[in-house]
Amino acid sequence: MVSIALLPGDGIGGEVMAATVPVLDTLVQRHRLPLDYRVLPWPATEWHRQHGSMMPDDAIDQLLDYDALLLGALGDPGPLDQPDRYRLPDSVSLAPLLTLRKSLNLWACERPARYYPGVPCYLSDPRARELDMLVIRENSEGEYAGQGGRLRAGTEDEIATQLEVFTYAATERLIRHAFERARQRARERRDEKRMRAFTGPGGEPRESQVCLITKRNAQAFWGELYDRVFQQVATEYADVATHHELVDAAAMKFVQCPWRFDVVVASNLHGDILTDLAAVLAGGLGVAPSANINPADASVPALFEPTHGSAPDIAGRNLADPRATLFSLALLLEWLGQRSGATADTKNSNEKNRLFSSAGHQLHETLIADLAAGHPASGTDAVGRRIANAL
Ligand code: IPM
Ligand code: MN
Repeated sequence: MVSIALLPGDGIGGEVMAATVPVLDTLVQRHRLPLDYRVLPWPATEWHRQHGSMMPDDAIDQLLDYDALLLGALGDPGPLDQPDRYRLPDSVSLAPLLTLRKSLNLWACERPARYYPGVPCYLSDPRARELDMLVIRENSEGEYAGQGGRLRAGTEDEIATQLEVFTYAATERLIRHAFERARQRARERRDEKRMRAFTGPGGEPRESQVCLITKRNAQAFWGELYDRVFQQVATEYADVATHHELVDAAAMKFVQCPWRFDVVVASNLHGDILTDLAAVLAGGLGVAPSANINPADASVPALFEPTHGSAPDIAGRNLADPRATLFSLALLLEWLGQRSGATADTKNSNEKNRLFSSAGHQLHETLIADLAAGHPASGTDAVGRRIANAL
């Protein structure tokens, strides 16, 4: 039996997760998935109110018992006009996100951004509808290393430092994974007969591309490391076109010509910023999924979550679009399918693998059809029931 944990969290997290449950139940029944799930009351601000911490001390050990995790959202400042409400600083309420990514060693964050008919397109150039990129964000170090401090805090002489850490090992595995994904995407597009054209160093045609993001003109130390590793790894993937953009220029080009990107590989902070931008190009945070994975170790439970936050301004009003969470669930099921496939050698596990892949694929297709039909994005519970019925 495969078991997954649902972690609703804070704010709209509870609502989008509640909307996901009927979809999950339907998929399990329809596809006879050997899957059970459990809803956990942590990490959450409410758990903190009752127990003094966002999650139990042995949270990571408990989570290791599951095959995959689906998280709603974290951080719940609550309406500002309710001063008595239990509030936590972001540094406390959001910390579990970073703790889970780090402690479970989920070093790659994949955030696909693909335009599907029916979602708002904010760009006037019709080619913007060809948007189909996968941003792979470094998820374990870099600008999120959490090192630094404040000197003479609170005075006019205050100095705050925030150390960025980039290691060869984390850079190499990330960039290698980006090239692997580029190859895999090219294979999938070939199967679906929707090939794309990029150019190799001498102008030769290539079916996929990896674009490296740095800020090497101002941050030379890690910029040079990323550059060198990128060039080294690229020599093993002559079939994949390569490209480099400075992060500021990349932000501009995401808007100017988003159809030119395929796989984009970026540091933790650059990836964080660019994925919000990519999400809005693909219709907004209401439909943007993400996957925190360890591509080298499928025995670690991967963590799937919508790219959006807890949206306290609309929490509790049945207004949130649960489709970002449902797209994340589709990624989770597909990941389970590929994962068991990677370790499978018996007929049984191949069959299991196929069940999960096909459930994930069907959920994805159903969501695309739902977008194309122009159905409303809320109420949250009705969207969940609608998708469950459409399955
Ligand atoms: C995200 C979020 C988090 C991040 C925040 C909430 C810490 O913005 O998942 O993109 O920066 O990683
Ligand atoms: Mn973010």
